[in-house]
Amino acid sequence: MKTKLFVATVVVTAFVAVGAMAAMMPPFGSSGDVSYAKSLWQKMEAKGLNSTPANLYVGGPPHGKVREVLEGTIDGKRVIVKRNYRGKDITVSKVVADRVKYLKSVTIMQKREGFDPEDGDWYWVKYAPDGTVMKNKKGMSLAGKVAKGKPVGCIACHAAAPGGDFVFNHNKSANAAIVFVK
Ligand code: HEC
Repeated sequence: MKTKLFVATVVVTAFVAVGAMAAMMPPFGSSGDVSYAKSLWQKMEAKGLNSTPANLYVGGPPHGKVREVLEGTIDGKRVIVKRNYRGKDITVSKVVADRVKYLKSVTIMQKREGFDPEDGDWYWVKYAPDGTVMKNKKGMSLAGKVAKGKPVGCIACHAAAPGGDFVFNHNKSANAAIVFVK
């Protein structure tokens, strides 16, 4: 009897501990999120999503002042890639002349069915120009459900996008046309 009770206690404690750990796990930046981001970057390279020039335009924060947006499909999933350019006295023509010099980050969103049903099933990443996943001030890698449940971050801000699917670029008056990469 005592043994049974002991076993039951251990099992319950283990369940509670696992549950608590899952609740404490941040919704992004896990090793799985980062390795997915790495393989996605390679597929973006292979598809030309990192090299095809798009329509440069000027926009407000938080993305780089000059930016361009491309869309394509990877593994059957929709991917939107935004290149963010920054620098002193930056202009569109300076970026045209030297994209590499001004490119500061590449922010992407990929539609992954079942990944995050509450927030449109988008997977988010902020890459450095060399494809490494960038980190926030707390040292958390910006890949996955960034920053789900927080008042600021990719998800919170994109929730305000018209159309109800976290994508802003339907707003033709504010953004330049997206370039589609086949
Ligand atoms: C404070 C608000 C805000 C935050 C935070 C933000 N974005 Fe955006 N994002 C925007 C706006 C506004 C646009 C559209 C404006 C434009 O294209 O010039 C945009 C555009 C994009 C696009 C192009 C598709 C679209 O919706 O137009 C991608 C991809 C993107 N953001 C990814 C990210 C990722 C990844 C993060 C987090 C690392 C992030 N964004 C954080 C406001 C935000």
